[in-house]
Formats: sequence, C-alpha cells, structure tokens
Amino acid sequence: MSPAALTPEPSFQVQPIIKRKDQLFNFGATVEGLDLNQISDDDVQRLKETIWTHKVIVVKGQQSLTPQKHWELVTRFDPDASQEHSHGKLETFQKKGGVLSRSRDVYGIPGAENVRLIGKGYQGDDHYGLKNLDVKGLSNDFHADPPRDEEFQQGFTRFQRWHIDAPLYGRDPAWFTTLRAVKLPSGPDLTIRWDDGSGLSMQSPPGLTAFFSTSQLYNLLSAEEKLVADHSWVEYAPYPYMWIENCKAPSTGLGLKSEGKEHSIEDLGEYDEKDVKTYPCVWVNPVTGEKAFQVHGIAVRKLFLRSSVAEQPQVVEDVEAIRAFLHNIQSRILRPEYIWLPEVEEGDIVMWDNYGTFHTAVDYPVQKYGPRTMHQANIGASRGPVGPVPIPSVG
Ligand SMILES: [Fe+2]
Repeated sequence: MSPAALTPEPSFQVQPIIKRKDQLFNFGATVEGLDLNQISDDDVQRLKETIWTHKVIVVKGQQSLTPQKHWELVTRFDPDASQEHSHGKLETFQKKGGVLSRSRDVYGIPGAENVRLIGKGYQGDDHYGLKNLDVKGLSNDFHADPPRDEEFQQGFTRFQRWHIDAPLYGRDPAWFTTLRAVKLPSGPDLTIRWDDGSGLSMQSPPGLTAFFSTSQLYNLLSAEEKLVADHSWVEYAPYPYMWIENCKAPSTGLGLKSEGKEHSIEDLGEYDEKDVKTYPCVWVNPVTGEKAFQVHGIAVRKLFLRSSVAEQPQVVEDVEAIRAFLHNIQSRILRPEYIWLPEVEEGDIVMWDNYGTFHTAVDYPVQKYGPRTMHQANIGASRGPVGPVPIPSVG
C-alpha cells in the first residue's frame, strides 16, 4: 500500500535514495520542502507514512527547528503515547540505563528535556542553555577487543553497537527516532572495519549513523526459517541494559560476547513482572505489511521457538545458545551492500522506523575531526509491536 493511498498527496517531496550498483539495501529516502517548525496535521500524517514506508528518511534543511517544536513533532507522531522519552527521565536512565548510559553523557535540552543532546567533544559556551559542555560520546569501549588507539587516530574504526532504540522494559519501543544534526565533524573518510576475519570494510564520512533493514533480513531467510521466525518469540531481561552492563561486543558490534558477565536477575534488584517485555521475533509494518526480523539480541533472556501455532515451543534459556541462534540469522544482513550511512548535512534530521531497522553509531577521533552535536528525540509508543500470529501469554 502506498502512502498516497491513505492520504492526499503530501505538500513535500519524497525522493527515494539513488544507489550505486554495489548497494543492495532497499530502503531510504530524502524529504524536501518541509519546515518542521510549522507542519500541518495532514503533513505529520504523511510524514509518518513516509517513515514507515521508506524506513529511514533524511528531512533536509531544518537548521531553525527549535527543541520545543522538535519534541512537539515527536508527540504528534504518536498522540496517544504518554509524553515522555522512550528511555524515561534522564535521572532513571542514568541509574538504570546500564550499558546505554555507562561511559557516555546524555543531556536534556533545557525547556525541552525530552530532546537529548548527544554527540562528542566541546559543545560551545552555551548550547541552548547548556554551558561549556565537553561531551564524552559513544566509543569503541563497548568492544571486547577495540581497535588500537594508533589505528583509531588514523581513522580506522568499528560499528559501535547495532541496536534498536527500545527500553525493552516498562515502555514499548518508540515507533520512530528523530536525530537532528546540529554540528558535524569533518575530514577525510573513516574506514569502518569488521575485524572478524572477513576482511570486510566500508568508507564513511565521520559522524554518521549506519542502518540496515530487518525486513530485508527477513527476506533473506529460507521458507523454513521464516516459519520459525513467524511463530517464535523472545522474553527480554528486566532492566536489560543493566543486566548486560559488564558485557562486551564482538568486533562487528553485532550481538554480545558470552563470557558469563551478565548479572544474575537477583542482582538487578526489585522489578515488576508486568514490565518485563515479551515480543514476537517478527514485527509487522503497519503501513506496508512487511515483516521484519526484529530481535534485540543483546537483551534477550529467553527464546521460545516453534514453527506453527499448534506446536509447543522449545524454550532456550542458555544465552550462548540464544546469541548463536540470532547471530546466525542477523549476521546475514551485516554486509557493506546492505548497510546505508545517510550523508547528512548540518540542519538535516534523520527519522527512522525502529520496528524495521537496526542502527549504530560509528566513533571517530574528535581531535582530528572536531565536535559532533545531535538532538535526539523519541517517545515510548502507545502501541507495541504486532507479530504475524498472536503469541501465547507465558507464565
Ligand atoms: Fe540508537
């Protein structure tokens, strides 16, 4: 179903990405002709459908977007959602965010606290009321075996952590994340290396975000694997990012090394059973009907496998087995031809579908390329993911 079938023609222009011959990813578009400081309700609706359809869009020319209007737009995307960032208040995020908030600074913009400043390096004397901040950004510290500093300084880097923006406890994942480039680093292209023996690498300007499509991943599965994916589900750990706060990633940034460093569930303290999330392995796109293999492997504690509605699921509780199962599937899409790093300019805002893509930051040496300033906002969804078949409630 095309977005035009649902609403009248948008007042803005949507241009699907023109790809090089070696690029096989099947998503991405550029949007022009919008001023997000004053966008009509009809255009908000059309923009939503554009994100669901194209998965990752770059809305050009939003230099003057105020943080207040940025947040307002996010709430208009999902008006039934409670008015809070999907990761909740900053205070809770810093306390319970585990691997997400560890060794990283995230700040709320004064007056629009749900818009988060993320980035790297010195943010200036006064950034929307935040004074003299020097921000420590995400880094390759998450890797069990990070690149040597000498190589990193020369521009060799990694995918930091492939993920979806999802609390996976309490709130449902935001449908979309919005990320506005306020200030970007500049300099020669980085080389992103897999460093897993495959010899794979990609070139990219500094400061970008990388994406792959999990609908495209679903389509890479065999008919038999699709049956299993369609009928299976996962249970995430309570406070999942705390649970894995001491764990490290393999060199591709996809998944986790299993080194027995997870906390015990008792270590996590009190938690509410009703906030523990159980989601299908496949999430259905509400506009296009596409299926996405959308499992946030690093946070999964139990896997329930079956290939029909009638079958009793096989329950997998060993994290090493869970991760091996997921890695076998998810690593198929982790190839340069399936990955897109949208080349944004300052003022552009990237918006993506969190229910059909994975993304990651890519670290760069700040001394060589200069600071990065991004405004990020999303909202815990009013309705969580829907699978192809209902999943039984598990006791
Ligand atoms: Fe993210």
